[in-house]
Amino acid sequence: MNLLGKKVKNRYMSRNPKFDYLPDQDRYFSYREQPSYKFNIIGCGNIGREHMKVTMMEERATIYGVYDQNPSSIEEAERLFSTLSDHSLVKYDSLQAACHDPEADGLIICTPNYTHIDVIREAVKSGKHILLEKPMATTLRDAYEIMQLAKDYESVFQIGLQYRYKAIYAESIHETLERKAIGDVKTISMTEHRIPFLDKVNQWNKFSKYSGGTLVEKCCHYFDLMNLFAQSKPVQVYASGNMAVNFTDFTYNNEQADIIDNAFVTVIYENDVRANFNLCMFSPTFYEELVICGDKGRLKASENEDFLSAKRPRNHLEILCGEEKPSRLMTPAYPDHIETSGHGGATYYEHVYFIDNIENKQTTTATVEDGLWSVLVGLAAEQSIKLGKAVMIEEILKESQVTI
Ligand SMILES: NC(=O)c1ccc[n+]([C@@H]2O[C@H](COP(=O)([O-])OP(=O)(O)OC[C@H]3O[C@@H](n4cnc5c(N)ncnc54)[C@H](O)[C@@H]3O)[C@@H](O)[C@H]2O)c1
Repeated sequence: MNLLGKKVKNRYMSRNPKFDYLPDQDRYFSYREQPSYKFNIIGCGNIGREHMKVTMMEERATIYGVYDQNPSSIEEAERLFSTLSDHSLVKYDSLQAACHDPEADGLIICTPNYTHIDVIREAVKSGKHILLEKPMATTLRDAYEIMQLAKDYESVFQIGLQYRYKAIYAESIHETLERKAIGDVKTISMTEHRIPFLDKVNQWNKFSKYSGGTLVEKCCHYFDLMNLFAQSKPVQVYASGNMAVNFTDFTYNNEQADIIDNAFVTVIYENDVRANFNLCMFSPTFYEELVICGDKGRLKASENEDFLSAKRPRNHLEILCGEEKPSRLMTPAYPDHIETSGHGGATYYEHVYFIDNIENKQTTTATVEDGLWSVLVGLAAEQSIKLGKAVMIEEILKESQVTI
């Protein structure tokens, strides 16, 4: 009996080493899909390796090669890959070689933010499918150039704004935008409280010129979600923030870190939806919260990871509908092996949809235009803090001579 060719999707079983003793012909429920695509990873630091892990877990693709300028990043990527595959990785010695190897079908770009523009200029010449990490660029001019390069691009060009697929946000999107559980959205409030920025190769995330600033680097995820929930374009941004605690004495190559660690950002949308974002990066936890008030109810979602031994649910979602209809309290969650694979499982689903995009299936992944708007709100907020006043999106676009 030969069962190969059956496509039974149960990754928990197919990747479970408990079944490694089974001859291939006896794998049915634990059948391992043969990968149809090969991807190269450009920049295999922290998130590059997360992409490696979830690509292999997803099974429809494999990682073929890597390019990175830091030998330790390559070593660590090889070490990880050896636990995921019997093959060895191709190691490229130049960006050009990594982009243009005919063996690879796609490129996953995970280099620091300020390098995205140069990497993309080369990557688009390949015509391969592209998954570009967020934020797509550190300046509006660069984001706009990337948008132009992606405009008539014939392969997939996806931006890594995968928070859309965290369990709490995926369910909130469904409840708010598809099910209309709370009626028309009027206000949106988001919070991120977390520990300081982690160490990076060359500490690029401690300097605004390399990262775009904290509100671009990290918070583009939340601005993407705010833009999505508002279903409108931002018109005005007012922000206040400073460097209160973190990295105040941090220097690298004789340069002083210049990134803010807390902020309050208010965004007003064309359709009069109002949103605010509260950031604190000196909090001993990872905590995210979303509160949306509609004309028919209120949705609140939260995700926490707080280092406590006394456990509480990681995810929470509540929809309060007063006397209109039933209210609900929920704990949205993915299977444990997916939720713990990185960013609450969001990166895994980003890959499921990357491949679905390649196979022309309908998905809700972030487009290059979504990526630009998320960066734009972050840049506007950074500018508002410097000027101490509200800034109009239209003026920022005009200053950078960008028309969208
Ligand atoms: N989507 C998410 O949730 C998420 C999470 C973390 C990081 N990121 C983004 O991913 C990117 C990388 O972040 P990270 O945390 O992995 O940083 P990192 O410093 O851990 O890794 C970056 C890697 O890129 C390499 N590199 C630098 N310049 C390069 C170049 N020109 N060509 C090839 N390799 C180069 C470095 O040596 C390093 O190994 C950033 O844009 C970051 O904002 C996204």
